[in-house]
Amino acid sequence: MNADPRFDQIIDRRGTHCTKWDMMQAAYGVPADDGLAMWVADMDFRPPQCVLDAVQAQVDHGIIGYYGDDRPYLDAIRWWMKTRHGWSVDAGAVFTTHGLVNGTAMCVDTWTAPGDGVVLFTPVYHAFARVIKAAGRRVIECELAFDGTTYSTDFDAWDAQVEGSGAKMMILCSPHNPNGRVWTREELEGYAAFARRHDLILVSDEIHHDLVYPGQTHIPMANIDGIDDRLVMMTATTKTFNIAGCHSGNVIVPDDRLRAQFAARMAAMGMSPNSFGLFMATAAYSPEGAAWVDDLMVYLDGNRRVFDTGIDAIPGVRSVPLQATYLSWVDFADTGMPRDEFTRRVEQDARIAANHGTTFGKGGESFLRFNLATPRSNVEAAVERMQKAFADLQ
Ligand SMILES: Cc1ncc(COP(=O)(O)O)c(C=O)c1O
Repeated sequence: MNADPRFDQIIDRRGTHCTKWDMMQAAYGVPADDGLAMWVADMDFRPPQCVLDAVQAQVDHGIIGYYGDDRPYLDAIRWWMKTRHGWSVDAGAVFTTHGLVNGTAMCVDTWTAPGDGVVLFTPVYHAFARVIKAAGRRVIECELAFDGTTYSTDFDAWDAQVEGSGAKMMILCSPHNPNGRVWTREELEGYAAFARRHDLILVSDEIHHDLVYPGQTHIPMANIDGIDDRLVMMTATTKTFNIAGCHSGNVIVPDDRLRAQFAARMAAMGMSPNSFGLFMATAAYSPEGAAWVDDLMVYLDGNRRVFDTGIDAIPGVRSVPLQATYLSWVDFADTGMPRDEFTRRVEQDARIAANHGTTFGKGGESFLRFNLATPRSNVEAAVERMQKAFADLQ
């Protein structure tokens, strides 16, 4: 299996105020000293050198003032979306928020009112429901169909559920976290038609769009015909380049009327971006950044193979095959164990912190989510610990 010193290197993150390693004991009771942190979606790898250099240049200069003239930043975004995703972005349509959870909250605030429904396709990234509920809106959970291996859409069931529900918005995760699906053109057209049928704003969170495995092609929702007048795209450098701490993301609104509404909310909230996020993104969206992402995906592909082979060898435990993302979605249903039991074995016996499936909404009950963006030796250790924790099933 491919080795790469940049990704094989163990960088001890303990004691650095990182959520993933420094909070796992508090969150899961997994011991800080020899636990394996496989929950929060950031990577245990350094970003490409061009990104670190961009930060270093700010430190070397020594004055961290207000940022001005975002043309290089916007050019970098346009170049990246065009060359990596075949998507032509209008620079005037780009807003920068404090990450995409903040971007989601801003969308909910702009286009829905308290009491309105927001449709999610579950199981899905948990922070969507968190911000929707915190804003006094209702989550409408449309559960994805699952055949034991693959997730798919279920528009007939969802139509019946959403009709007359007071839904005003839907949030799509594309590619999907946590099931790892890269939606096909046909599926995306289905989601777009669903938004039109129910008169919903379609927010497409594409934060994982660069983390796609060989043989898969992500299609931006913006490249689907006939949806621009109700579409909001969300992208970021943070997952791709492992710079989530800079809390920076883009909300891209193609339609003039929607754009004016979003601009008004941004102004009302006094939003303006942090300079580090802009400097890092400008450096990342470059040929050097692109080459690094290509190498990263080769490495992650190796990690997912090691993990899937080892996990699928445990009777009754199954890792859903990933088309994108480094977040493995593992189903314990066929072990016949209650949720408390398989969770206890993972946390206390294997000493691994993994996200609980229930936090992702309906359909997540028998799952845990494991983050594989860590040196291969950690993935191998995780497999070994898991096989031991479930050895009685062999
Ligand atoms: C689908 C999705 N959106 C947003 C985020 C987080 O975005 P941010 O850190 O920019 O708030 C994540 C993090 O895992 C995610 O998976």
